[in-house]
Amino acid sequence: MGVDVDDKGYMDRFMESYKGTLDVPDQVKIFDTTLRDGEQTPGVSFAPDQKLRVARQLDELRVDVIEAGFPVVSEGEEISVKKVAEEGLDAEICGLARTSVEDIKKVIDCGADSVHIFIATSDLHLEKKLDLTREEALRDAVGAVEWAKDHGILVEFSAEDATRTNLDYLKEVYNAVDEAGADRINIPDTVGVAVPAAIQNLAREVREEVRAPISIHCHDDFGLATSNSVAAVGVGAEQVQVAVNGLGERAGNASLEEVVMALRSLYGIRPKIRTEALAKTSNLLERLTGINVPSNKAIVGDNAFTHEAGIHVHGILESPGTYEVLSPELVGHHRRFALGKHAGKKSVKNQLEEMEVEAADGQVDEVTRRVKELGDKGKKITDADLRAIAESIIETLPQEEEAVQLKEATVATGSTVTPTSSVRLVVEGEEKIGSAIGVGPVDAAINALRSLTGEIAELRLKEYHLDAITGGSDALADVTIKLEDAQNNLYISKGIREDVVLASVEAMVNGINRYFASRETDESG
Ligand code: KIV
Ligand code: ZN
Repeated sequence: MGVDVDDKGYMDRFMESYKGTLDVPDQVKIFDTTLRDGEQTPGVSFAPDQKLRVARQLDELRVDVIEAGFPVVSEGEEISVKKVAEEGLDAEICGLARTSVEDIKKVIDCGADSVHIFIATSDLHLEKKLDLTREEALRDAVGAVEWAKDHGILVEFSAEDATRTNLDYLKEVYNAVDEAGADRINIPDTVGVAVPAAIQNLAREVREEVRAPISIHCHDDFGLATSNSVAAVGVGAEQVQVAVNGLGERAGNASLEEVVMALRSLYGIRPKIRTEALAKTSNLLERLTGINVPSNKAIVGDNAFTHEAGIHVHGILESPGTYEVLSPELVGHHRRFALGKHAGKKSVKNQLEEMEVEAADGQVDEVTRRVKELGDKGKKITDADLRAIAESIIETLPQEEEAVQLKEATVATGSTVTPTSSVRLVVEGEEKIGSAIGVGPVDAAINALRSLTGEIAELRLKEYHLDAITGGSDALADVTIKLEDAQNNLYISKGIREDVVLASVEAMVNGINRYFASRETDESG
């Protein structure tokens, strides 16, 4: 077995506890249907060159089978399947076909290695969709498989809507196509209605009936596609049909990355997939389809290896196995520590070190305090935010105590109110309060400070510059100011806050402290 992190064998022991109840095959084929069922995702359509690009990436990933498309549906689709088949990839190239000779012939003419023949078998589909009797469908299925085999192509057969098909009839169909020479028997849970126990029961029944290896194709209507696929392998299915990012009709198919990693880490099977290419493959499909995976998507989502709680970060830093059952590198992803209100000093310190920002202990405390404060206000702190906060603190907060401390800043503003601000400072131990009006809230706050700086020092505001650190209305405001003293010395300082007024006040106070610090240096020198 063997999981992919050092967790002192706990997972191996856990696997041992249930593996005896299963019948897991030594190897499982990965049949990728991103270019066929995945393309049935509403709003998704690949041009032939895009299909080729995806096929090359799937081949790099080392999937066993690439279902390149359904050539009979359009000329573009036929061209795409041909292009993929002519590319000389290592993977088996497959094309989808109904039970008609025309469909199968198209797949053969495209140069595909295999044909995936399907016909619906549930009474619902037979009556309402196909207008066929069970006997007619059985006859069509067998006829199609025989015709394809006579024309020298590998055949995979699917009984569409298998999970809602009468079990005896389903077994009869599978038995008949098996005898007709089908090379693989696929069980589609077309509308995603199965639960793992039901899939296992069905897969066992079918396996007993046929000699060909069985395959599973699960849809995610109840969010069970991955579980069901993994469950089927647990009772001997030797192939899974999956799609990158779980793309596919409606809620999609079982996701390739989830199934592959679950088989590897939870059953100890090693499909021949180059797992390090999973994140890259997922990103390519996101770009080409315009469908982004949710951040909390397993394996490839942005948060799949992101740790926020201080307790978790502490654990990860001590030993990654505490909160990671896979190492992010194994799937081409990376570990991240997110900062928010759950952050601890350790996570902040670690993140700063990663960003090569040096901060003294007291400065890390202050950055942590700020991060939590922002987290409490619902703000997510990006790396850019953290760097800016840290730099503003490190630049302006020398390790010794500042001469000027901001105790309070308030502003009142609105369409019928003149913007008014008051600030309370402690300057070298003495409390000072100033207030002023302005043309806007920032102007009022700066004027309130200036009303005090006159008393404290002769400082002029030479420049004021405002930036947003990241996009969005909750971006941190980054204010840079330039102050000038009576001897024309310049003091540049920054303020970073989620509130533009507070960022401006902070930049001013930081500038004043720079002035005090330089005065002390002059006096001591
Ligand atoms: O979901 C389904 O039944 C299918 C078949 C074509 C296998 O995609
Ligand atoms: Zn499907």
